[in-house]
Amino acid sequence: MSKSPIKTSFAYGKLLLPHNLFYAPLAGCSDYPFRMMSGLHGQPGLMYCEMVKMDPLVRRNQQTLEMLRYHAQMRPIGGQVCGSRVDLAAESARIIEELGFDTLDLNCGCPVDKVTKDGSGSALLKDPKKIGDILHEMVRAVRIPVTLKIRAGWDEGSINVEQIVETAEAAGAVAITVHGRTRAQGYHGPAIWEYIRRAKSAAKKILVIGNGDIHTGQDVIRMYHETGCDGFLFARATMGAPWVAQDALQYIRSVEQGDRPPEEDRTIRFFIEAFLEHLGWIEREQDPVRGVLDLRRVGAWYIKGLPGARHFRGTITRVTSYEEARQLLADLQNQLIQEGFDLDRPYATTDGREEMDG
Ligand SMILES: Cc1cc2nc3c(=O)[nH]c(=O)nc-3n(C[C@H](O)[C@H](O)[C@H](O)COP(=O)(O)O)c2cc1C
Repeated sequence: MSKSPIKTSFAYGKLLLPHNLFYAPLAGCSDYPFRMMSGLHGQPGLMYCEMVKMDPLVRRNQQTLEMLRYHAQMRPIGGQVCGSRVDLAAESARIIEELGFDTLDLNCGCPVDKVTKDGSGSALLKDPKKIGDILHEMVRAVRIPVTLKIRAGWDEGSINVEQIVETAEAAGAVAITVHGRTRAQGYHGPAIWEYIRRAKSAAKKILVIGNGDIHTGQDVIRMYHETGCDGFLFARATMGAPWVAQDALQYIRSVEQGDRPPEEDRTIRFFIEAFLEHLGWIEREQDPVRGVLDLRRVGAWYIKGLPGARHFRGTITRVTSYEEARQLLADLQNQLIQEGFDLDRPYATTDGREEMDG
């Protein structure tokens, strides 16, 4: 095991990725504006679109294709498909490749009933043979690397990471991302990294990407020491912090070079401007009805932890236009200045932003 968790020129099948810190697929979140912010500020080693379902994809449903729209700034970029029909696997893989995606991932982790009821997402964990059959079809159909993303098992009593690692490896998958929670856990409780370690020790050639509760460079180092995994997938930590991969890289480099970790120099104005930038991408790229709903959620991410955030969160969730949101931000800035905050002074660390008001 090499000393550093960071691998640059990271070989991912035939693909060479700049490094091994990735951004997760996040349904309802990792849309075009979110990915643009990620590409501009975070430059992850690989980022993902939201998952799309196989059935509408093979019907070339317009809304599904819209979800897969991307910009060169977002490369390297992976598409993720969700489904359980072996007969649709090859065609969905071909479409993802035709659209120009760098990698293709099979979702075997989504816990939502709507998805699992037809055997898709995490329900596939109960049928490893089917996972193997789907992957096999995909691998045969395309030249881009085929990967999968799993949870550790359906529930605590049915952990089968080792079996799925072996099945995926035999089917020719290049990498397996292991989210260290079971389906039964949903998104609650800490991720259990021991499952990632078990996947890594079962893997012969297949790369193991660890996922669950990675927020900082410290977390990456700790996960590496505990599991030996090959790469790291940031998920919820990317919400409102598109720069998290660059922060982690910088932190890890400074630790390895024996320097003091970089001081956090972000100001209140920085977070407000980041939200305005994200809002601008939503306004340009999203249809107006969904766009306003999105900005209510996105606004709360960026402002979280700033003074006055609690009140802001309450009001941003009711805005009905982009203009109203911009006005709300202007009001917040004025109020902070009146209260004596210096918007241009380093404020707090990204990971340690505390709720200051109330
Ligand atoms: C809102 C939301 C949407 C998600 N959408 C997807 C998805 O489309 N595909 C997928 O494989 N995982 C999805 N996930 C799971 C994440 O990729 C990740 O595995 C999980 O959040 C654990 O990582 P974390 O603890 O760092 O957040 C989603 C998670 C959240 C919170």
